[in-house]
Amino acid sequence: MDGKYNVLLIGGGGREHALTWKLNMSPNLGKLYVAPGNPGTAEIANNIHLNISDFSAVAEFSKKNDIDLVVVGPEQPLVDGIVDYLENENIPAFGPKKRAALLEGSKEYAKEFMVKYNIPTADYAVFSADEFDDALKFVQSKESYPIVLKADGLAAGKGVFICESEDEVKKRLSTLKNDQNLQEAASKLVVEEFMEGEEASVFVIADGHTSHIIHNAQDHKRIGEGDTGLNTGGMGAYSPAPVLSEEILERVKKEIIEPTITGMQIEETAYHGILYIGLMITNDGPKVVEYNCRFGDPECQVILPPLENDLLSLMIATTEQRLDEFSIQLDGDYRSCVVMVSEGYPGSYKKGMEINGLQNVDKHSIVFHAGTKKDGGSIISNGGRVLSVVGRGDTLKKAMDHAYKNVEQISFDGCYYRKDIGHKGLKRFT
Ligand code: AMP
Ligand code: GLY
Repeated sequence: MDGKYNVLLIGGGGREHALTWKLNMSPNLGKLYVAPGNPGTAEIANNIHLNISDFSAVAEFSKKNDIDLVVVGPEQPLVDGIVDYLENENIPAFGPKKRAALLEGSKEYAKEFMVKYNIPTADYAVFSADEFDDALKFVQSKESYPIVLKADGLAAGKGVFICESEDEVKKRLSTLKNDQNLQEAASKLVVEEFMEGEEASVFVIADGHTSHIIHNAQDHKRIGEGDTGLNTGGMGAYSPAPVLSEEILERVKKEIIEPTITGMQIEETAYHGILYIGLMITNDGPKVVEYNCRFGDPECQVILPPLENDLLSLMIATTEQRLDEFSIQLDGDYRSCVVMVSEGYPGSYKKGMEINGLQNVDKHSIVFHAGTKKDGGSIISNGGRVLSVVGRGDTLKKAMDHAYKNVEQISFDGCYYRKDIGHKGLKRFT
């Protein structure tokens, strides 16, 4: 790489603070702008106001500020085609194009793709919005519970229902049909076999031809301890995930990653950017639960800190199809991330609580901001997921202990966090 690269990062959650933190270490970085960012990114980069769903505004800002690379954090702009738009304007962007982002944007597309390329996943059937009665008949004919109902499109984690009985299927079909927030996503419905096993995710960086696994992690999606209660965006994560033994990772590469990357080439939708593969490790081996077209949140917060490569160089190489010049280097330590949320999340919650103790965090942990806001000299809560506290250790247990010790230094009214982040991973060592 010659010279310095000015970067515009799109997004404002914990994932984007982690991306800002990592990009900021690059010797090749010129100016770093984050839209909208958060008080954490403001400390190390330039937060800017931009309507990120207005791609022409993003392009105009990029041209005016000599942006050499736009990095897109969240899925919505990717699924809406921000990369295609910027590339047409000759602005390099890191992330998949619209058609490739369909791997996340349409569950029906993803399932058809997996079947076509023989990639292991759950059996399924698809129904359109006027065929929900047929969906019920299909479920009744299977008589096998639990069974999984999924809205086809993006639903921010709220479009998946694991149903234990026919009554629950009826109830959820009615939710999918009538909930205003789900109607667009649920214009089609995927009914899926329930896969038994432990979940984990691998994060792949791909330039259309070459792909490398950056790292793996395990998320904690439910609000309650012991994986109970409502689904959330993610309550914590740890990395690496011990359930992904070397043998399983080898199978993931051969049976899932290679056919996915090759399949996307054959479909003429070569995959560029981060591919997040959500896996179920079943008794029959690893199977795909879902593809996402971006880093996970909070998984990003545990996979970027151990990455020794310069992230900006990897991203530039991705846009120039030079990933074959790189191999991924990790520091070998564990990370565990505890997400501190506002009481009531993922339902309604209060904002504006003063956050105390951030200055007490020690060198074994990093705090990434998400739903926070600056209020005079204070930082106040401003969202459901407020902070991610990431601990490091040469064992998973030490990483977890560091995360929790530092979480305990921080407080705000109504703060809630799960006390069992990482426990499932620890069980694999005993
Ligand atoms: P998705 O948005 O497709 O990742 O689904 C959200 C969550 O629902 C996943 O992380 C799993 O915990 C669960 N899930 C989805 N599909 C299945 C399945 N076929 N079998 C078991 N669990 C599933
Ligand atoms: N943590 C789950 C996600 O980012 O989709």
